[in-house]
Amino acid sequence: MSTEPVASTSFDKMATDKRYAASGEVPEGVARNMQASAAGEVLSPGFSVRGQFLEGRPSYLDMQATTPMDPRVLDAMMPFLTEQYGNAHSRTHTYGWEAEAGVERAREQVASLIGASPREIIFTSGATESNNIAIKGIARFQRAKRRHVVTTQIEHKCVLDSCRWLEAEGFEVTYLPVGSNGVVDVEAVRAAVRPGETALVSVMAVNNEIGSVQPLAEIAAVAKAAGAKFHTDAAQMVGKLPFDVNELGVDAVSISGHKVYGPKGVGALYVRRRPRLRLEPQMSGGGQERGLRSGTLPHPLVVGMGAACAVAEAERERDEVHVRMLADRLLGGLRANLSHVGLNGDEDTARRYAGCLNVSFACVEGESLLMALRNIAVSSGSACTSASLEPSYVLRALGVDEELAHTSIRFGVGRFTTAEEVDMAVELCTRHVTRLREMSPLWEMTLEGIDLKSIQWSQEH
Ligand SMILES: Cc1ncc(COP(=O)(O)O)c(C=O)c1O
Repeated sequence: MSTEPVASTSFDKMATDKRYAASGEVPEGVARNMQASAAGEVLSPGFSVRGQFLEGRPSYLDMQATTPMDPRVLDAMMPFLTEQYGNAHSRTHTYGWEAEAGVERAREQVASLIGASPREIIFTSGATESNNIAIKGIARFQRAKRRHVVTTQIEHKCVLDSCRWLEAEGFEVTYLPVGSNGVVDVEAVRAAVRPGETALVSVMAVNNEIGSVQPLAEIAAVAKAAGAKFHTDAAQMVGKLPFDVNELGVDAVSISGHKVYGPKGVGALYVRRRPRLRLEPQMSGGGQERGLRSGTLPHPLVVGMGAACAVAEAERERDEVHVRMLADRLLGGLRANLSHVGLNGDEDTARRYAGCLNVSFACVEGESLLMALRNIAVSSGSACTSASLEPSYVLRALGVDEELAHTSIRFGVGRFTTAEEVDMAVELCTRHVTRLREMSPLWEMTLEGIDLKSIQWSQEH
């Protein structure tokens, strides 16, 4: 993939062509920034740490929520956002053909990253849509014969919701529990599948809250033996850890562009061709994407996703080393400075993606900690998926108690995270956890060795 800047965008043309003239006044703040950057002056310096103070924006440590787009991805997209704006499905002129060529190249790049054939990739709007198409589509196709689905309690909401939808249509769904490390027991899958009855087993590859890595190859083999199809939501795994559809034996895989340093609003679904996976389309329309996902492809986004996959394929090993080094530095720093720091998920990075650290700080009020940590962008283990203060259903499935779940923070490090950002996160957490604990009577009791669970709290109001 080329890493050269794009030469096709003609600023000269834009300067003289009336169609590009601004239709209104440019706001003062924006104009000032533009003039400053033309003069080589940087008004928005981004992240930097100077002593205790931050300039610019909080340090971004929320890589499971989304990843920043790699500049090389934007370079690849630019020609398709400007000059090559045709409809990739137009067959009668150059505009259509060049857009189509971009899409087909992207299809090869996505396929190559996961060891698939390009003909097995269909583009969607993201992993949510891929999961919907796979789960509903695979189950509905078999509804006359098989009406049972197996999944886990810690899937992403879009998988759980798709399963609920199937339940309303008369399917039976088994939601498997996970161990305290967030990993599914293969024997539990074996016990749950019903030969001749189970249409689909869907187990996510890497969990988005705790990073647990599931034994996909073993689960795929169990599903196959029961004649069921196996789908995995690999939004958090593809591009970050080795992933090969044939080594794993999966039938369908969901991928998201914005989790692999690509653009938002685009994703892919791998659909196995040999043996052919049959699924019912969920959208009626023009029959694009082999009839499985109708609608005009957003080809600039598709091209971006392809470029992101190509970069991931070339640099995954380097990213893994970088991420592991920074994650170790973060967890090691927290543990060196603070006691009673719990890691939700497996300690062993064979069963946890290293870049996802979900940490609990005993005796700290979670929301107060988050308020204090506003200079780092992280996600809280509570209130993660809704506006309520319910602790996350994933942590609950792990058996993390409610109090501790409320003090959980998810740190996500990635390709562009720096050691300075990690050091600042350690410094801020140490300072504020210590301060909040000093204010907590529970902390004193914990230090005295009193088991808080053994206390009978009075219920007077
Ligand atoms: C595991 C997992 N599945 C699915 C999704 C949804 O992906 P998208 O935002 O591409 O729809 C996400 C992201 O939030 C995720 O982490």
